[in-house]
Amino acid sequence: MSRNILVTSALPYANGPIHLGHLVEYLQSDIWVRFQKLRGHACLYLCASDAHGTPIMLKARELEIEPEELVERYRAEHRRDFSAFGIRFDNFHSTHSKENQGLVEQIYSKLDAAGLISRRTIRQAFDAEAGMFLPDRFVRGSCPYCGASDQYGDSCEACGRTYAPADLVEPRSVLTNTTPIQRESEHYFFQLGRYEQSLRSWTRSGVVDKGVAKKLDEWFDAGLQDWDISRDAPYFGFRIPNTADKYFYVWLDAPIGYIASLANLAASKQEISVDDYFAADSSRELYHFIGKDIAYFHTLFWPAVLEAAGYRKPTGVFVHGFLTVNGEKMSKSRGTFVAAETYFKHLDPEYLRYYYACKLGSGLDDIDLNTDDFVSRVNADLVGKFVNIASRCAGFITRQFAGALADSLDDPGLYAEFVAAGESIANAYEKREFSRAMRSIMRLADRANQYIDEHKPWVLAKDPGTADKVQAVCTQGLNLFRVIATYLKPVLPRVVGDAEAFLSSGPLTWDSPAEPLLGHQIDSFSPLLSRCEEKSVRQMIDDSKPAPAEAKTSADSNDANAVINLDQFLEVDLRVATVTAAELVAGADKLLRVQVDLGNEQRNVFAGIRSAYDPEQLVGRQVILVANLAPRKMRFGVSEGMLLAAGPGGKDIYLLSPDAGAKNGMRVR
Ligand code: 2FM
Ligand code: ZN
Repeated sequence: MSRNILVTSALPYANGPIHLGHLVEYLQSDIWVRFQKLRGHACLYLCASDAHGTPIMLKARELEIEPEELVERYRAEHRRDFSAFGIRFDNFHSTHSKENQGLVEQIYSKLDAAGLISRRTIRQAFDAEAGMFLPDRFVRGSCPYCGASDQYGDSCEACGRTYAPADLVEPRSVLTNTTPIQRESEHYFFQLGRYEQSLRSWTRSGVVDKGVAKKLDEWFDAGLQDWDISRDAPYFGFRIPNTADKYFYVWLDAPIGYIASLANLAASKQEISVDDYFAADSSRELYHFIGKDIAYFHTLFWPAVLEAAGYRKPTGVFVHGFLTVNGEKMSKSRGTFVAAETYFKHLDPEYLRYYYACKLGSGLDDIDLNTDDFVSRVNADLVGKFVNIASRCAGFITRQFAGALADSLDDPGLYAEFVAAGESIANAYEKREFSRAMRSIMRLADRANQYIDEHKPWVLAKDPGTADKVQAVCTQGLNLFRVIATYLKPVLPRVVGDAEAFLSSGPLTWDSPAEPLLGHQIDSFSPLLSRCEEKSVRQMIDDSKPAPAEAKTSADSNDANAVINLDQFLEVDLRVATVTAAELVAGADKLLRVQVDLGNEQRNVFAGIRSAYDPEQLVGRQVILVANLAPRKMRFGVSEGMLLAAGPGGKDIYLLSPDAGAKNGMRVR
């Protein structure tokens, strides 16, 4: 029976690029949606840009553009990246849309009318210089428990404790570096606690995985607090009706963006209506794919808001873990914080779709992208096993039989085994146990290759007397390939699309294998997938490393709180040098190529200072060079040191220079 399913992925914030960590979720949900569609179900896959909040407002200010423009830029970039990875949404809208504003206001007024919104005055960190209240993450200081310095206002990365920004020792605003003051303001709260019983029974009804249910029990035991849904101006979001300067908190309007994306789609498609999916009595299926960091919002706030506003609750919330690369958190300095765009400049997105599928289960476990394993698995499984079946058989059929397949299967029993395997593979996909599905599929690929090895069409082809057998064996081989291609179609849409083209029998559906392709004319075959080159992976990682000066100023180098002793400091060889030449670097927006004279040698340095200096300003100027930094091979040449500069980046970069009289080559202490 055909099902009606609505699937969402978390809405990406419109202020940064999509990276390999995000792609775990989008690929997981896209594979699941493609599987449902392949099975013949009506399945809508929706997403949108998450447009609101303080970070987006501030980034737009920094770029001196309106936040709307920033959102549209990232929305376009994200759509490009998703499409490059074969992630196919039925609609990709924005939370900064008229549909969303209408829905948010409507939902809020229902909540308010039902007496579920309370108003009370709270004290909060305020940056007097910036003229704004500070979100917890915008206040940093020393942890009140363990004393670790430079911790966020909500939790300590050193001891794991949570607290309020006001508890920090020597707090400061990350915007202006001034000490925040405490200021009062009236805030609006949604009374989440009123839904405790209902949420307890909903979360125990099988809508979440066991690991999540356990976490939810902890949250219930800790007690559900009222939820602050308002923020003070300045804020980029929707203003709360009947207020002058209060805005809805981004996390109230973001999930409502799921409904808004549907409403936007429904406006152009008569057969779709929001009520069909969201009315309280809807029997359609609704699933949210999310990461474990936002489970609280989707398993408590969101279902409570839905219920309070008279909508249905989700059928399932599917929570996945985080991505690690080579066993560690993604890191800018190690080059493992890879943007989607950098990936697809070097590697085929189908590799990553398959690799993630091999790693993904239904639970909360983190998944690791091991770059060596990535290369060998893609080459062994996709190139060596799957695609190889077709390349071993197609040539004989096109060259010797003008593309005609035989009228019958050589081994119907073996073919039937392949068809029968479909049920348990479908079951694995349905439960999001993709790694189990991939293992079963690769066992079939091994079996198909074994069949070809046993019958050796390349030997038979030498004897004109066994021509029929060549056609029969290759027909069998291509039919086994076709069954496997069907099973892999949710994971490898591009490769299987090309396979469909050469098999010339239309788009495969999950039921296609029931009828083998016999007495059928195939089209010419060209290689479906090339080998994954280790070199390309290395280049991708190199391209993801920050330029030298960026490395010194990027957020990721804030790990630099470690204390070093004098000997360690003295190991750094700092020298006075004079810039003898400087020029722009074609293809690198942030870099200048700077040549410096160290007294007895010349060095070539790529410095990430282009945003603050013109090359001609530098010539003749004395600078301080880190002279014993290991040479770094970059796309444009080798960088032989680093220039010392202060400042956060952008226009705010200040090169250090000695007082007049210092000689080139002098050591700096
Ligand atoms: O955590 C995030 O990246 C959010 N932008 C996800 C929002 S999902 C939904 F609620 F809109
Ligand atoms: Zn601490």
